[in-house]
Amino acid sequence: MMGPLPPGMDDRAIWDIWQSQFMLPAVTVADELGVFRAVGDTALETGEIAKALQVDERALGVLMGALAAMGMVERRDGRWSAMPQARMWLHPDATGYWGGFLYRFRETIPMHGDLIAMVRSGLRPENKVAGGPEWERGTMSAEVARRISDFMHAHSMAPARGAAVQRVFGEIGSLLDVGCGSGVYGIEIARANPQLRITLLDLKEMVAEAQHHVDAAGLVDRISTCGMNMFEEDWPKGHDGHFFANIFHDWSEETNAILAARSYNALEPGGRIFLHEILMDDDGTGPWQAASFSLMMLLGTLGKQYTLPELRAILEAAGFEDVRACRSGGGYYSLVSARKPG
Ligand SMILES: C[S@@+](CC[C@H](N)C(=O)[O-])C[C@H]1O[C@@H](n2cnc3c(N)ncnc32)[C@H](O)[C@@H]1O
Repeated sequence: MMGPLPPGMDDRAIWDIWQSQFMLPAVTVADELGVFRAVGDTALETGEIAKALQVDERALGVLMGALAAMGMVERRDGRWSAMPQARMWLHPDATGYWGGFLYRFRETIPMHGDLIAMVRSGLRPENKVAGGPEWERGTMSAEVARRISDFMHAHSMAPARGAAVQRVFGEIGSLLDVGCGSGVYGIEIARANPQLRITLLDLKEMVAEAQHHVDAAGLVDRISTCGMNMFEEDWPKGHDGHFFANIFHDWSEETNAILAARSYNALEPGGRIFLHEILMDDDGTGPWQAASFSLMMLLGTLGKQYTLPELRAILEAAGFEDVRACRSGGGYYSLVSARKPG
């Protein structure tokens, strides 16, 4: 086990590299589905395009966001239309149509087949991306827990440091880290805020993984674990705040409404809820880091990257108020927070 990381929390270059895998398949899928023809001459809403192309509206919305982030389409008053580069090079009737070249990659890029099947059916391919299908069963083997924990630990280390230095965590005494994964967020937040006591909550196989990290960090006196199913069992009470990193992006709006309500019920009046997410812009047109992450969620989970207005609606419906967001430093994440009145 290596010692603590040196100071620093900017891993954006690594994010840019792994997220680049979604660029070409987003375009080859849009080409094969006929998206650029559909929005080449007319501006259409997502539902209208989905109906015309006979594809799933939710999945298409995520794909359109990625195309917008790449500058291939734009959205005005809720309607999508092709940008000049797409009209010139990606419209099948255009003299400069690149389709003959892009056609080849339909076969050579494995993600093309998965993504186009997903956008057509609205159903994700099984066993392609770590995580979702396993934890949706509410249980997993120790080996799967270790694989998922390692996967998330790497991608969450820098964002966890960015979250940990947010001033609000210096103002509270206890925090419940819901869906903690490897525990990397709770550990970094505890390191940066010596007054804080933290409870790491996840499925019991996963908190066993988190416990190894807590032990290695030497934080057993301030970090405890709670192995349970967050949808089925009563949450521990008495925390000043509930923290969810990369949790709402795993689930549908309906399921997130359940999580928000469970959090609201377990928090004391005045308690706060925190969501650490890469946010889509309010109109769903990017940025690329959120849009490509959303494609990954589409392929591997039941969720997507949300906008602040979407999260606000979920939190306010549960009773929370004072919903706000700020970029949390270093990487691409934002910290969304809200308060239970009282
Ligand atoms: C995307 S990971 C996020 C992990 C961590 N918060 C991070 O950002 O690195 C989602 C986590 O939610 C946990 N989870 C999923 N369903 C759960 C359930 N029903 N009860 C408790 N935890 C659950 C998973 O085991 C997993 O660790």
